Amino acid sequence: MTKISMTVNDKAVSRDVPDNTLLVEFIRENLRLTGTHVGCDTSQCGACVVHVDGKAIKSCTTLAASVDGATVTTVEGLANGKELHPVQQAFKDNHGLQCGFCTPGMIMSATDMIARYQASGEELTEAAIRHELEGNICRCTGYHNIVKSIQDAAAKMANA
Ligand code: FES
Ligand code: FES
Repeated sequence: MTKISMTVNDKAVSRDVPDNTLLVEFIRENLRLTGTHVGCDTSQCGACVVHVDGKAIKSCTTLAASVDGATVTTVEGLANGKELHPVQQAFKDNHGLQCGFCTPGMIMSATDMIARYQASGEELTEAAIRHELEGNICRCTGYHNIVKSIQDAAAKMANA
């Protein structure tokens, strides 16, 4: 067993867990934050994406012990009280989801993507969005409305 401590969605948390506990297990089973999904377990689908120290990572292939002390944000930590994060709002406004299984990972990847492009000043084109989403699989939407949602959120965040 190992004692793991981290800050998750602005709250300090600490749990004793087996050494081989994955970050996604720590989040879902120990912290009961089930918005982060598991679709494949093999680092392909992106349903498990969370932010660790501000960067999007796949939590199904990250050991919880390897991010001991980190700051983690899950999809539950994005909204500001009842006010949705602009990326969440854009997915809602542009019908960027159907079953919703991939959506938490899509939203966490999108927020990281928009922040990186806005920090670098590089234009987040439709082609760039589609390329960036290669690590996130959606079985329902055909991606078109997901891309539209990200374009909408990026435009609104640029003007904020
Ligand atoms: S569950 Fe992590 S990439 Fe699919
Ligand atoms: S909305 Fe169903 S998998 Fe993407």
